[in-house]
Amino acid sequence: MTDRTKRQPPTLGGRQLKPSTLMMGHGYDPRLSEGALKPPIFLTSTFAFESAAAGKRHFEGITGKRPGGADGLVYGRFNGPDQEILEDRLSIWDGAEDSLVFSSGMSAIATLLLAQCSQGDVVVHSGPLYAATETYIAKVLSRFGVSYLDFPAGASRAEIEAILEQGKVLAAQKGGKLALVYLESPANPTNALVDIEAVGQARDAVLGTDGPPIAIDNTFLGPLWQQPLLHGADIVVYSLTKYVGGHSDLVAGGLSGAKRWMDPIRSLRNVMGTILDPYSSWMLLRSLETVELRMTRAGENAAKVCAFLAEHPKVEGLGYLGMIADPRQQDIFDRHCSGAGSTFSLFIKGGEAESFRFLDALRLAKLAVSLGGTETLASHPAAMTHLSVPDERKALLGITDNLVRISIGIEDADDLIADFAQALDAV
Ligand SMILES: Cc1ncc(COP(=O)(O)O)c(C=O)c1O
Repeated sequence: MTDRTKRQPPTLGGRQLKPSTLMMGHGYDPRLSEGALKPPIFLTSTFAFESAAAGKRHFEGITGKRPGGADGLVYGRFNGPDQEILEDRLSIWDGAEDSLVFSSGMSAIATLLLAQCSQGDVVVHSGPLYAATETYIAKVLSRFGVSYLDFPAGASRAEIEAILEQGKVLAAQKGGKLALVYLESPANPTNALVDIEAVGQARDAVLGTDGPPIAIDNTFLGPLWQQPLLHGADIVVYSLTKYVGGHSDLVAGGLSGAKRWMDPIRSLRNVMGTILDPYSSWMLLRSLETVELRMTRAGENAAKVCAFLAEHPKVEGLGYLGMIADPRQQDIFDRHCSGAGSTFSLFIKGGEAESFRFLDALRLAKLAVSLGGTETLASHPAAMTHLSVPDERKALLGITDNLVRISIGIEDADDLIADFAQALDAV
């Protein structure tokens, strides 16, 4: 937050305002932009300083001489009004002290991992992760001497403690530290949930309260249905491309958490230039005004569609958080989540051939990867997003040939049901 925008306290009298209210104006003062009701798109690569002393002060913030980033606008690789208003609004949803926005979900994840890890360090993560995140940790960070250990989503506190102990020993052998605990919950594409509370307790028990931060990819349920900072996570990760952007028309990423964790990541973002551009930031400000409405409708639609699919004779099962079979997963859901989301796995009776026939027969739902948009999408993870995952790991993670991933949008639920019914008839 710089002097170009003016942070409004999120209260009215003594009343704490809700996120859906704050999305309309928080972080923006029209008086600073000729009275424009909506923030303009600031297409400029650099900003004029009011004095040489102000320029020096701003650079002290940029270079980390003073913590917390610049207190003024400097240069488009470091900050900008649209990005800062967006960061203020994004942080509201998770009750975070600070947020940072990035050119993609993956550039947010890559900047976070690079900021946290040095040679010899160890990352402990839950599995499965989004395939590119897993690749980045296993194949890219490993080239710089960073190792990893993983535990399955759904692991108990004792199992997580055992992996953290192993990680501590491995880091000591390599001359590094256990640098980050990285989670994804629900996991892409299986919807498996991680017990964030248990991870926090295990981290504190094994590594003490000044142990590594716990970061969690909250793309599938956030920002509406899961607030991980309330359950012991330190950093929330988003592909803003999905539900937050919500219209399948931009690519962006975000991180939210305490300034203590955000400051070093911001410094690396300044060096690397992984910040989001002003135009996409402005698009996201517009998206955030309707995120609650869109997600609520998509969630209601998904419940209706899944009720239909669950009874269909050609359906083997569903990986939908509104119909969890495993008691441990249900317990995690009850403690952490306030909604079942609109992205789920559909297991068709048969294999790849039957799944492809279903996908090719869909008329309303589009055959495309990604999720969280206004329109319904369907894809085949084993043959598409997770094609590069080795077969044994796919089998271990339950990414089977009869798994179709579906992201329900905000169309009419009965129309969607009619589309799925005719596509199943074609199988
Ligand atoms: C759970 C999850 N995390 C991260 C990403 C990466 O985000 P982006 O495509 O915006 O880089 C994705 C993309 O599908 C995802 O599903």
